[in-house]
Amino acid sequence: MSDKQFDVVVIGGGPGGYIAAIRAAQLGFNVACIDEWTNSKGGPALGGTCTNIGCIPSKALLQSSEHYEHAGHAFADHGIKVEGLGIDVAKMLARKDNVVKQNNDGIVYLFKKNKVAFFHGRGSFVKASEAGYEIKVAGASEESITGKHVIVATGSNARPLPGAPFDEENILSNDGALRIGAVPKKLALIGSGVIGLEMGSVWRRLGAEVTVLEALPTFLGAVDEQIAKEAKKAFDKQGLKIHLGVNVGEVKSGKNGVSVAYTDAKGEAQKLDVDKLIVSIGRIPNTIGLNPESVGLKLDERGAIVVDDECRTSLPNVWAIGDVVRGPMLAHKAEEEGVAVAERIAGQHGHVNFNTIPWVIYTSPEIAWVGQTEQQLKASGRAYKAGTFPFLANGRARALGDTTGMVKFLADAATDEILGVHMVGPMVSELISEAVVAMEFKASAEDIARICHAHPSLSEATKEAALAVDKRTLNF
Ligand code: FAD
Ligand code: NAI
Repeated sequence: MSDKQFDVVVIGGGPGGYIAAIRAAQLGFNVACIDEWTNSKGGPALGGTCTNIGCIPSKALLQSSEHYEHAGHAFADHGIKVEGLGIDVAKMLARKDNVVKQNNDGIVYLFKKNKVAFFHGRGSFVKASEAGYEIKVAGASEESITGKHVIVATGSNARPLPGAPFDEENILSNDGALRIGAVPKKLALIGSGVIGLEMGSVWRRLGAEVTVLEALPTFLGAVDEQIAKEAKKAFDKQGLKIHLGVNVGEVKSGKNGVSVAYTDAKGEAQKLDVDKLIVSIGRIPNTIGLNPESVGLKLDERGAIVVDDECRTSLPNVWAIGDVVRGPMLAHKAEEEGVAVAERIAGQHGHVNFNTIPWVIYTSPEIAWVGQTEQQLKASGRAYKAGTFPFLANGRARALGDTTGMVKFLADAATDEILGVHMVGPMVSELISEAVVAMEFKASAEDIARICHAHPSLSEATKEAALAVDKRTLNF
């Protein structure tokens, strides 16, 4: 056993942890980061869920499957003839794995550049002492390190359906969903949340018959209703079968696939036989193996580490960030918390504005939003004005051949301050950042309406939606 002393020890090398480690090192601290993720060769694979089985590989597959769909359907409209179109799933998965590896390697490089000491293995609290917190690292060998400050960034795991554990062969979490070896004829997803829609889109585009079973009676309840309705219309047209208000019963996995019993919204018993089932019903905070009891680190009833608004835990100098604490489970939220905590440790005033965290669902059409929805504003009784602009009236969208969706602005009725911006349509994952900047600077809808936007660009739809708040669109 060796004993090494650090100013800051970060447990977890996902987007929350690795960014926290880099920022702390930039601020002059002596930093260690412990991460247990292991690649197929037994080596480290930094980047956490996001890099290994989340954001990055899902976007790689979404891109490949979108190219395939365009080649099969959209190219003909451009006069491009495609003959003998086929999909090599093994190659598509290998490309995805390579994209993941580039990101894993990138973080190793960043740790070297910033002089962050990396320990590959599982970190667990041992005890608190004068010098800080002793952490055991169990990897190829076992060692002990001590941190004056500890940042816990241990992420989350997929929530299984009661009575139907993941086998990653037939009943898949996001992990198995990202490495299905051949296009399944029939695929079911339980949960029409973000993973359900993204993963369902990938395999539908590649030719699977996809059914999504959702417990709630409303589609994408957290999304602005008008935007969710528009998105649902597009998904229905694409052939994604989304059943709302279902109650999933017994799930049986066998040699020939999976059988799912459920009652539909009318209360009638139904059975669905599929080749593969993806369960995407949310995620649970992960503290497995962390040994929080040894130091008295407090968890809530969901298993999340209890933190205050500034990510301080129940223990002095122990912080927690990302999916393992309250708030949206998003990579960029974890990163922002990581930066803010490192700055607080340095005595600075790190800050995360929860009102301007953007959300993006990378389906086609994409869905993106920031701030409050119309239903939230109605519920809070705040007087607001709304303006929408359809991509149908946008020149760039017509040239792209993708005119689905709209941009919607919600602004305060009296002051015109932007309260929420909601989008469904092409590339809105990129367009949303203008709205985030505007809200961060407390802009009014008129501020956006008066800014010159390049022509022809999708961003003109943002300007026009801002003009629509004052009922003065120019192109609709
Ligand atoms: P994680 O990324 O989960 O990282 C935690 C790390 O800690 C892991 O490497 C784990 O091995 C390690 N660890 C845990 N316990 C220990 C221990 N005791 N010792 C050592 N190491 C430990 N978010 C977005 O913003 N955009 C997206 O497009 C997006 N797509 C997603 C797609 C999918 C399929 C999934 C599942 C998630 C997606 N997310 C997306 C969510 C995003 O992945 C998470 O919000 C993000 O990864 C959280 O970061 P984190 O650092 O808190 O935890
Ligand atoms: P989710 O919370 O987005 O959606 C889960 C859905 O499952 C909900 O609609 C819920 O009502 C439904 N559900 C729950 N229990 C059910 C049951 N027993 N039967 C049927 N339906 C049930 O969770 P998901 O999709 O698992 O993703 C987890 C998280 O990962 C997301 O909330 C998000 O934070 C993150 N993520 C982010 C992405 C992005 O930013 N683009 C992409 C993928 C994931």
